[in-house]
Amino acid sequence: MKAIVLEQFGNIDNLQFKEMPVPQPQAGEVLMKVVFAAVNPYDRKVIEVYGKEAGIQLPVIPGSELSGIVEATGEGVTGFQPGDAVCGNPGTFGGCYAEYAVVKAADIVKKPDPVSFEAAAAIPVAALTASKAILDEGGLKAGEKVLIHGASGSIGSMAVQLAKAAGAYVLATGSGKNEQRIKELGADVFIDYTTQDFKTVANGVDLVLDTIGGQTQEDSFAVLRPGGRLISLIQPPSEEKAVQHQVHAKMIFGGPNADRLEKSLQQLADGVLKITVEKVYVLSDAKEALLAMKNGHRTGKLLLNP
Ligand SMILES: NC(=O)c1ccc[n+]([C@@H]2O[C@H](COP(=O)([O-])OP(=O)(O)OC[C@H]3O[C@@H](n4cnc5c(N)ncnc54)[C@H](OP(=O)(O)O)[C@@H]3O)[C@@H](O)[C@H]2O)c1
Repeated sequence: MKAIVLEQFGNIDNLQFKEMPVPQPQAGEVLMKVVFAAVNPYDRKVIEVYGKEAGIQLPVIPGSELSGIVEATGEGVTGFQPGDAVCGNPGTFGGCYAEYAVVKAADIVKKPDPVSFEAAAAIPVAALTASKAILDEGGLKAGEKVLIHGASGSIGSMAVQLAKAAGAYVLATGSGKNEQRIKELGADVFIDYTTQDFKTVANGVDLVLDTIGGQTQEDSFAVLRPGGRLISLIQPPSEEKAVQHQVHAKMIFGGPNADRLEKSLQQLADGVLKITVEKVYVLSDAKEALLAMKNGHRTGKLLLNP
């Protein structure tokens, strides 16, 4: 099969488009023919920055979310059979940038017919991370005020929709060209981070979702009400600042969650959730897609088509 293979950490240029053996499913696993794999910021960060310290063994095929067709199942798999249309989030560097991928049966779900293969590949990381952050860990309730940073991005735009559906008042920071899209998704207030200081707009906030880190995270403590919560996807927040502002702050990680993914796909099928795909690249152009991701200013997900 054709695959994108990383043989050395440090640079996107180290990725090779090459022939690899088709992986074989072991017990509890499923072999998928990949229809689309999504490109995520984390893929690039692992290649360039974290791969070694994360203990990822080389060579490795990147990619952590995909849609496709079940080709074969390993021993003990009962929920899937060849021909099923499926999608999922098999974790960091789950081998999705390839014509075929082996995933744990527990990490994938069936794709409802009305959901396209594009949308099914684009939604798992965004929906699972955003819902874990604002609903499970953030405990967002109806009537609360939430500030979502990076709402023009994949995770943030999903968080806006989930927060609105939960009955929250939603303030959203992002880049200006996405304002209309993010307001249509449910933001009550859009703050263009390139021209506005969110601290002058937001106050008394119950929950902040930080998808940016750095100064944005630092400044977020000041807009929370006492007893408020800050959930970061980027870096552990300062414990000292949390005590000083009398708030709860922590960093969390997303991850596979089949029940939640099934629910998100149904919401997509029902038109309750939306996911935007900006561009589809052929698999051999994975480096180009990762560079576009690195350069920022995306308006939707980037996909690879083997
Ligand atoms: N902890 C976890 O488990 C987990 C899981 C998934 C993702 N993540 C991380 O979460 C981050 C977001 O992921 P994503 O897929 O949503 O990325 P994305 O699609 O690239 O979105 C990031 C968005 O943030 C906007 N932005 C940049 N600087 C900003 C600022 N100072 N204030 C407000 N908005 C700003 C960007 O706008 P412009 O580019 O137009 O300026 C872009 O729309 C990434 O760093 C990713 O690695 C963590």
